[in-house]
Amino acid sequence: MVILGIESSCDDTSVALLDVSINKHTILAQKTASQIDVHKIYGGVVPEIAGRKHAEAIVPIIQDVLYNQPKPEYIAVTSGPGLITGLLVGVEVAKTLSYLWNIPLLGINHIEGHIYSPFLEENHADLVFPTLCLIASGGHTEYILMKDHGDYIKIGGTRDDAVGECFDKVAKLLSLDYPGGPKIAALAERGNKNAIPFPRPMIASGDYDMSFSGLKTAALYWLRDNTFEEAQITLEDFCASFQQAIIAVLVKKTENILSKHAIKTLLLGGGVSANTELQKHLSHMLAKRTQPIEFRFPKKKYCMDNAAMIALAGYFHAKNNDITTWNKILANPIWRVINT
Ligand code: KG4
Ligand code: ZN
Repeated sequence: MVILGIESSCDDTSVALLDVSINKHTILAQKTASQIDVHKIYGGVVPEIAGRKHAEAIVPIIQDVLYNQPKPEYIAVTSGPGLITGLLVGVEVAKTLSYLWNIPLLGINHIEGHIYSPFLEENHADLVFPTLCLIASGGHTEYILMKDHGDYIKIGGTRDDAVGECFDKVAKLLSLDYPGGPKIAALAERGNKNAIPFPRPMIASGDYDMSFSGLKTAALYWLRDNTFEEAQITLEDFCASFQQAIIAVLVKKTENILSKHAIKTLLLGGGVSANTELQKHLSHMLAKRTQPIEFRFPKKKYCMDNAAMIALAGYFHAKNNDITTWNKILANPIWRVINT
């Protein structure tokens, strides 16, 4: 089954062509145009500019990806959630191609794409249920219980900022370029994570919800009230302490969920899944448990938004004949992946 994936929900215009069978897939081609250089001037993604950049990039990228390749049998496109300006571009192009080529269209939830990202270049039939998905990105931080393909129940999530957003905003306070997550993570490698006792918001709340806006404010106040020289704290120490506050909350909440639900796989996805310190702490927590739990996270190149994950998610919809006709598909910026 040859599937063309299209992703344009944020600041990456990504197109991929996958050949997928029951337990094997090949990424025949993939191309992504990042808009980071444009948005970093403004310190974050500007929706109007994102929409225009997607519109400029998408057709040439599709042409490049399809060059000398077999004709797709399906088109899988991110139709939500995300920035409406970007979603509209991907959805309109996918609709047009679906009509012109007379092939079925699959509207894919962006979160579901991240859920399948750990299986890119792996055997995608290896996903063992029940699975706990921790999706942490610039726009989302959610715990989703997955009992089967397409069966999602959200059991917790952030009440305010997403983890990636918190990383990006604190990076901005430190005058680090957008996106700040990778920059903070790199600096944190050389810092002391116990240097500043940042709060661990809602760590003992007993539920699976989270809140990161208070941590962002605590970082802001620390920078307002201290200087690195006087406090004898380095930028690296600050980053390591801030990052550890986030990791402590995510690890503790995950551990709480695992002790209440019989889970066979822990799946980490979304841009923040690239954080190796988070991967390490989750692995350590899992290693201490008596019941073995499989831990899956994406290869570094598939942590951030990409069209290959949308095409792979599309495969499971195509298998179930869950098709959206070209004249029915709608871009939905607030589409929730859950089925309840
Ligand atoms: O999934 P993604 O590419 O886009 C959204 O759907 O939001 O995630 C981007 C987010 C950004 O906030 C970025 O700062 C964060 O992922 N990120 C990281 C790391 N790499 C990317 N956050 C922490 N540590 C990292 N290594
Ligand atoms: Zn994403």
